[in-house]
Amino acid sequence: MSRPLVVDTVAGLRARIRDWRRDGLRVAMVPTMGALHEGHLSLVRIALERAERCIVSIFVNPTQFAPSEDLDKYPRQLARDLDQLALAGADLAYTPGVGEMYPAGFATKISVGGPSAGLESDFRPTFFEGVATVVAKLLLQASPDVAVFGEKDYQQLCVVRQLCRDLNLPVEIIGAPTIRDAHGLAMSSRNAYLGEAELQIARRLNVILRKAAAALAAGADQNGATGEASRALLAAGFHKIDYVEARESRTLTPWRRGHEGRLLAAAWLGKTRLIDNVDVSTS
Ligand code: PAF
Repeated sequence: MSRPLVVDTVAGLRARIRDWRRDGLRVAMVPTMGALHEGHLSLVRIALERAERCIVSIFVNPTQFAPSEDLDKYPRQLARDLDQLALAGADLAYTPGVGEMYPAGFATKISVGGPSAGLESDFRPTFFEGVATVVAKLLLQASPDVAVFGEKDYQQLCVVRQLCRDLNLPVEIIGAPTIRDAHGLAMSSRNAYLGEAELQIARRLNVILRKAAAALAAGADQNGATGEASRALLAAGFHKIDYVEARESRTLTPWRRGHEGRLLAAAWLGKTRLIDNVDVSTS
């Protein structure tokens, strides 16, 4: 199992992709911020079902972190990431530095409307601008045929779809199911911040959301079910709930009964903010 080729410049990335294109190969991209776990590796595997070559970008994007957030302590472990990518069969790791992505004088921001309204944006008002800008850059740098994003960051996935549709970016966006541990906890690089006791509490998040989604699907009042879920999260040991909300799966407008829905939540456990989401219609 050989480690993927590593390139850290746009020119190096494009040269390699040009060779693949010359050989008639399809190219997939999996954008990440590193600290790879089984969730990311599942994205690579899905990418390799759709294309012969898979690029994984590893870039801790400063523009999507607010000054109060965890940019400095965000886990960085390139050597381990490369070993993981070798196991998953990725062909190339794209690891640009901040200077390559945002050279002096960089002055563009992409603001996506629609699905970015509310939820994360109420608590991280500059987050999606940072995500949309870096994702647009990565997709334009690599011009992949397909790009894979996890449903774990469900609102981000909807924002990326909107971005690509609105800007006619010639890439197919694939949403991949959330990978969970044996107790239902969604894999996340930020789980690394959790101690053993917090991990036990974190595992309640998915259980409580699934219960609320089932209640909604069975006809429970929306405010009643989301309020009950928030109370259950607090009782389980989360100390602050940012939101528990049901939205339409595709547009993220408020959920209407009879439509496909998604129940999304963000909650704090100590200094760690966890997000998760579940399907309302089938739970
Ligand atoms: O989901 C992430 O890891 C990041 O938000 C992304 C899509 C790689 C953009 O920096």
